[in-house]
Amino acid sequence: MNRQLELQKKIIEKFKSTAFGEKRLVFGEGAEASTLMMIGEAPGGDEEKQGRPFVGKAGKNLSSFLEVLGLKREEIYISNVVKLRPTKESPKTGKAVNRPPSGEEIAFFLPFLKEEIHIISPKVIVTLGNVPLKAVSGEKSITIGDVHGRAYPLMDGMALFPLYHPAAVIYNRDLSQTYQEDLQGLKKFLLER
Ligand code: URA
Repeated sequence: MNRQLELQKKIIEKFKSTAFGEKRLVFGEGAEASTLMMIGEAPGGDEEKQGRPFVGKAGKNLSSFLEVLGLKREEIYISNVVKLRPTKESPKTGKAVNRPPSGEEIAFFLPFLKEEIHIISPKVIVTLGNVPLKAVSGEKSITIGDVHGRAYPLMDGMALFPLYHPAAVIYNRDLSQTYQEDLQGLKKFLLER
């Protein structure tokens, strides 16, 4: 069994005995030898339905993101910090809606994310937004507004390249130009690696 599958099996086992153990898990996907590993926050509704990260609307965003970088989805590895869809009940409709992942959820999945990173051993880790940035850097007080669009050395020769979460750009149009500049910066950095 390959190492990714072994890790998934381990997560499923531990997950069963947690308070959120009923939920569907959405694991990372991509080639084990990918140069670039992209890490989001947590799956949303489309991802939960399809059991795959960054599909539906987020997948469309990802496609335009990859187009700028001149990369194909199959050439990178895509994952999330939290492997379940964090939801709450909407007071208006009574239906499940997305919420940010809790500290407990992040703490549960963090050791597995570290193992996943070790297995993939990418040259560059791109984090999308604050949750993966804090998880990967290990720094609680770091914020994306201060560090986006630049590369930082990590352990084992890897580099961290933090970007805003694409959803933040949808909600805050002023970020759009910054985001495009950051993407160009990432493209340049990847060509140099
Ligand atoms: N879809 C994901 O898989 N992760 C995100 O962070 C957002 C959407």
